[in-house]
Amino acid sequence: MKRSTIILIVILAVLAGLIIWLVRWMSGGFSARDQPSALEAFLARTSLALSIPSKAKEEKNPFTASEDLLRGARNRYEDNCALCHANNGSGLTDVGKNLYPKPPDIRGTQVQNLTDGELYYIIHNGIRLTGMPAWGPARNDSESWKYVLFIRKLPHLPDSEIQQMNDANPGGESRERH
Ligand code: HEC
Repeated sequence: MKRSTIILIVILAVLAGLIIWLVRWMSGGFSARDQPSALEAFLARTSLALSIPSKAKEEKNPFTASEDLLRGARNRYEDNCALCHANNGSGLTDVGKNLYPKPPDIRGTQVQNLTDGELYYIIHNGIRLTGMPAWGPARNDSESWKYVLFIRKLPHLPDSEIQQMNDANPGGESRERH
């Protein structure tokens, strides 16, 4: 057999394999309700980590948390973030639970182990091909840094404060089971 024939057969076999895989994948449906597979989640996590420039990871927050600043950031979090991320950060709102991929629990280690610079970069630029929008303008912005301080505070908010947020912003109430 000629070399070019062998190459052609290999290409056709790979194409046939791809088509079979695609048909099987599609017959499973495309519901956003599903959980991404472990492989998909791993690939998405790795590409997100690689897409953040190392200089951005090391940036320090120019603001320090004061009561006033945290109150303002909390109000903006209720308005802009809680619909998907929930008032308490769980991500278990009607919208958050049905996104694909789903917002992670902001109080958990996956998010809290990110550096301030990484959090700022994600909030400022958003995450492509997900529901996470870019919040900052093209240049640097102070609001995204203030969200970072609020995100650090979220795991320690007392139940009474979460209750105040739920009263002010029912759409952001977490639907987790207790
Ligand atoms: C329309 C829904 C939506 C809104 C509104 C939204 N987010 Fe997100 N966010 C997401 C989704 C979905 C992800 C997960 C993306 C992924 O899997 O890579 C995410 C991821 C994040 C992450 C990264 C977590 C991680 O480790 O992957 C942070 C931090 C974050 N959002 C903060 C915010 C803040 C702050 C706001 C408001 C200013 C906000 N988000 C508004 C949907 C949203």
